[in-house]
Amino acid sequence: MRAFERPFCGSLRAADIGRRVELVGWVRRRRDLGGIVFVDLRDRAGWVQVLCADAVRDAAERLGAEDVIRVVGTVAARATANLNPEMPTGEVEVLAEELELITAAEVPPFVVEDRVNASEELRLRHRVLDLRRPEMMRSLELRHRITFEIRQHFHEHGFLDIETPILTRSTPEGARDFLVPSRLSPGRFYALPQSPQLFKQLLQVAGVGRYMQIARCFRDEDLRADRQPEFTQVDVEASFVGEEDIFALIEGLFARIFPLAGIHPPAVFPRLSYQEALERFGSDRPDLRFGMELVELGAVASGCSFEPLRQAAASGRVKGLVVPGAAGFSRKQLEELSELVKPYGAPGVVWMRRTAEGYGSSIRKALGDDGVASFLHAAEVAPTDLLVVVGGTAKMVFAALGALRLELGRRLGLVAVGSHAFLWVTDFPLLEWDDESSRYFACHHPFTSPKAEDVPLLANDPSRVRARAYDVILDGVELGGGSIRIHDPNLQRAVFSVLGIGEEEARRKFGFLLDAFRFGAPPHGGIALGLDRLVMLMAGRESIRDVIAFPKTTAGNCLLTDAPNVVDEAQLRELKLSLSNERPGPA
Ligand code: AMO
Repeated sequence: MRAFERPFCGSLRAADIGRRVELVGWVRRRRDLGGIVFVDLRDRAGWVQVLCADAVRDAAERLGAEDVIRVVGTVAARATANLNPEMPTGEVEVLAEELELITAAEVPPFVVEDRVNASEELRLRHRVLDLRRPEMMRSLELRHRITFEIRQHFHEHGFLDIETPILTRSTPEGARDFLVPSRLSPGRFYALPQSPQLFKQLLQVAGVGRYMQIARCFRDEDLRADRQPEFTQVDVEASFVGEEDIFALIEGLFARIFPLAGIHPPAVFPRLSYQEALERFGSDRPDLRFGMELVELGAVASGCSFEPLRQAAASGRVKGLVVPGAAGFSRKQLEELSELVKPYGAPGVVWMRRTAEGYGSSIRKALGDDGVASFLHAAEVAPTDLLVVVGGTAKMVFAALGALRLELGRRLGLVAVGSHAFLWVTDFPLLEWDDESSRYFACHHPFTSPKAEDVPLLANDPSRVRARAYDVILDGVELGGGSIRIHDPNLQRAVFSVLGIGEEEARRKFGFLLDAFRFGAPPHGGIALGLDRLVMLMAGRESIRDVIAFPKTTAGNCLLTDAPNVVDEAQLRELKLSLSNERPGPA
């Protein structure tokens, strides 16, 4: 039998009964039942039970877990008592006629099963065994099917898949670059791309019109469960488009790929402006799978008799959360609420509730019963609910209540299992003021276009300028972001000027882009989706490490290959590099 005609072990079904097959795979486990040996044979697609009797019994008896074998046999129906509806191959078994041990395996460091009893560290060290686990293999297969459909979708819409350089110069995405020293130009460095941003814009000036790429990006930033130093973007750019074109293109893409995971997105996603998202959910990537929206308490706080809240109302914001069914929270639970907001710079929370006797609050002494009642009334708090209040700078109040909302939503089980919420967030600010360096930074990147009606504000009130930028959010995770770009050199100059980027610096950093723009730049815009995050959410996993074949730890290490590692002195000499510190020991 030709290799690619062989069925996968895990693909055999009742329809195959009577078929003579050749199977290859790994021994999942072996059971000896007096005279007959059952071998579960595993491959990429799952596993099937192989019944080894008579001529092949002796060979089967000697098999151990993870041995690689070849079996020739006939697919048969299982006896009624042995049917296993839990497994896809549970109606059949293979009656082995030939059995060949191809390679013997050592005893693995952990059992290769979905319910794995090993630390993530051990799994990453032995990633090869880890990937043999069915759920890991399913994630890899899902990822493949998703990228296949993505390419198909863009192809059908006239997009060209074009590769852009990996050895390049710094891109303005705001994280640190990974640098690669050049041997041929000693003392000079390439940067690995943080995204193909500049190249995809150049391709529009070149006239490609519709570009896509499944592109590897590199960012030297602090890592978390949804961030890796190298990750993959579904990168998209098109000419003569507006926001609505990009939204429809991505909604169409999601309608096509999410059903692969049994998820059916709405045809058109709801939209929130950045400001509304903050006001209602305390976050620019709100999780809309549950309500518990922030309530405005500025008016009631400004007339209250608790000085800190009165002050916060005057100089910042006072907002609250009505926590359903939490009127009975214990002292300990109430104190914990304060601990949860402290990392965001809040001194703690003020809480208020009705009690059997009247009113309860952490500031009841200062407010009196009437004061507490006016807050509860303003927030429309039911007798069974708890009101949590935070006052301070707008930024802190949003961050603290946004995080508290998510944590309480999780703890109180407010998210219905299997529910999903897609969303566009629009109208981001173009610029953000940084107190430390006393200057504006681009919220997205310096090529993002301001909204036409806000352009006049660039000169005198830059922080109020809104950008033609958008993010697509799923279940509180930022899946992607993009913008309509600036194609008018004068507008670009004006934005650079507000960013404190002078002519000379602009030339040095982006001269090649500005030069290209001199020769006829079409209006253009695009988006990039985080593929790893997309697959993570579709596969229902908690970390993008679970959907990347060979990921790095949160410390940026590859435990499998021990990268990053020290290099030979000779290699450094060739690059004309010397290390100022003592050479590090082995990682
Ligand atoms: P942005 O920086 O928002 O935009 O990135 C787009 C998407 O990429 C994903 N992402 C990451 N995923 C895993 N690990 C990381 N370290 C990481 N960083 C980002 C996120 C994010 O939404 N050039 C622009 C796009 C454009 O304007 O077209 C860009 O890179 O899901």
